[in-house]
Amino acid sequence: MNKVNSELNPQRLPRHVVIIMDGNGRWAKQKKLSRLSGHKEGMKSASLAVKAAKELGIKYITLFAFSAQNWNRPEKEVIALMNLLKQYLESESKELVKRDIKLNAIGRLNELPDDVLDVLNSAIDLTSNCKGMTLTLALSYGGREEIIDAVNSIIEIGDRKAVDEKYFSGFLYTKDLPEPDLLIRTSGEMRLSNFLLWQLAYTEIYVTKTLWPNFRKSHLVRALLNFQKRERRFGLTSDQVKKEI
Ligand code: FPP
Repeated sequence: MNKVNSELNPQRLPRHVVIIMDGNGRWAKQKKLSRLSGHKEGMKSASLAVKAAKELGIKYITLFAFSAQNWNRPEKEVIALMNLLKQYLESESKELVKRDIKLNAIGRLNELPDDVLDVLNSAIDLTSNCKGMTLTLALSYGGREEIIDAVNSIIEIGDRKAVDEKYFSGFLYTKDLPEPDLLIRTSGEMRLSNFLLWQLAYTEIYVTKTLWPNFRKSHLVRALLNFQKRERRFGLTSDQVKKEI
């Protein structure tokens, strides 16, 4: 283990890390390459980040791979992103099994092209008995869309006049996942971009200027070390938090 990794406290790792993988386009522009080349490099970073998270002992990782709003990008880019996603699933699913990583997906998955959905479902099946870590891909995902879908499901059941947080959370795509502890966003932008709006209520946010295609294990370790310095308050005073520890 190198020096930086060894400074990590294994007892205080975030259980669930979620990542907004931003900056593929800017990386490509800097290098005078096409946006597609940026996304290709971004896919490599995603693959490495998943492996790094598993090696470091993270139990849940969620990647914002395609937003509900990304459908509005130029058709050529949407097709390229769908192809990359398919490629990722086809080339990585055996590797995920080998590393004991279970694949999960959240979002309006029925909006994905049939061929992508088939490959996604096969990969989910193949990894269904894995227990080492859960990798969730957010696909055709929007936080507002998720909340609207939950509300509509509740209305459809139609047996409640009021709901509480616990009941409502049970209708979110993330109902089987723990709340995120750490959100990492690359490329320096300070926004949530419609990602996990309900779930991020008490999540620690870490923004790095590093563009996603340059993101490596060392960047993840830095984010985790930063997380370990934070005092999480969940709305309490810092004295109250200290008493609880
Ligand atoms: C943001 O870059 C990234 C995306 C819109 C999609 C994320 C996709 C990948 C990382 C590749 C595929 C990943 C998997 C797991 C298959 P941007 O285009 O918004 O960058 P910019 O803001 O610099 O233009």
